[in-house]
Amino acid sequence: MTSAPNARVLSGMRPTGRLHLGHYHGVLKNWLELQHEYECFFFVADWHALTTHYDDPSLIPDSIWEMVVDWLAAGINPGSATLFVQSRVPEHAELHLLLSMITPLGWLERVPSYKDQQERLKEKDLATYGFLGYPLLQSADILMYKAGLVPVGEDQVAHVELTREIARRFNHIYGREPGFEEKAEQAKRKMGKKNAQLFDRLRKRYMEQGDQEALDVAHALLESQGNITMGDRERLMGYLEGGGRIILPEPQPLLTKASKMPGLDGLKMSKSYGNTIALRDDPAQVEKALRTMPTDPARVRRTDPGDPAKCPVWQFHQVYSDAPTQAWVQEGCRSAGIGCIQCKQPVIDAVLAELKPIQERARELDEQPELVRTVINEGCEAARDVARETMDEVRHAMSLVLR
Ligand code: TRP
Ligand code: SF4
Repeated sequence: MTSAPNARVLSGMRPTGRLHLGHYHGVLKNWLELQHEYECFFFVADWHALTTHYDDPSLIPDSIWEMVVDWLAAGINPGSATLFVQSRVPEHAELHLLLSMITPLGWLERVPSYKDQQERLKEKDLATYGFLGYPLLQSADILMYKAGLVPVGEDQVAHVELTREIARRFNHIYGREPGFEEKAEQAKRKMGKKNAQLFDRLRKRYMEQGDQEALDVAHALLESQGNITMGDRERLMGYLEGGGRIILPEPQPLLTKASKMPGLDGLKMSKSYGNTIALRDDPAQVEKALRTMPTDPARVRRTDPGDPAKCPVWQFHQVYSDAPTQAWVQEGCRSAGIGCIQCKQPVIDAVLAELKPIQERARELDEQPELVRTVINEGCEAARDVARETMDEVRHAMSLVLR
């Protein structure tokens, strides 16, 4: 199923350390745009942090706090997006448990990150139940909000794919109520004659010709109906595709373009490589880090020409500099017309200029912990309202009701 234009967006981050420029360019700038286009839920995945940091969780509280402050400082607007902390919405744990009932072990064991991460983090014992369930907990996060779009990096696509399979299985098992077809037909008629006919035509086009556009239009039609209940909409969504009721819609990954943000050594900026510039690093420290970062090793002396293609500083210029400055680097480096310190100056200026307003806002927010606490509390409450509704439906579908 594809996402309607008014799809919900959901994404989370693990609070395992300070945010750096890689997060800013790779994730946060994307969130900044999405928050104006969609109904967004952004959350701190503290339970996910525990799956790998269970032996030393003491840093998690500070990481959660700094993460939310950094989001706000970067411009995430709690008026446009709902910000919350996973463990404060315990419904996630309940959904995780209920989904675990229908999740074949093999599906979890073959998620690529399972074996990879166990290999990569050999010093930790990750042969735990919690770690195996990591992607299923993520599925619960996503399905709880019936998110249509999940902005993630390449490494998380398999988790969204698993979520789609879980949703399909859930709907297949629990969406087949008795008398489904009649109920769907009744629901269709509630839209009025013209809409019901349009629905029939679109359904036929999709079922007979696999016409994806017809399906999209039909979804939009259903979304725009104010006079049908949520249950009826789910029936009609399922009916469109020839299945049962769609209780948990399948999400799509929204692939964020691979962040071009290089680290100080030219490799991808990442905490595990120790090549980061944190959003909270003080300006003197940032300046020093950039001044001492490596350059093209061929430029031993100031008079040796260099090649920007072999220099991490050039990658920073690609992120931060305009065309004339880039041309100045290319020409000056190859002719030894400029020195490396000189070449780095526009990058230093640009990074400091980028960080300055973020750090100022972060400082203001750190001085108003009550404000931050209110944002988090209100976000958690708003998220919980949605979560409670979903759990009502899920419990019902799974017959978890008193006789
Ligand atoms: N696993 C994600 C990561 O490591 C974090 C995450 C947890 C997440 N739950 C999510 C991302 C739900 C998107 C949607 O980056
Ligand atoms: Fe790198 Fe610039 Fe020095 Fe060339 S002049 S090696 S691009 S820092």
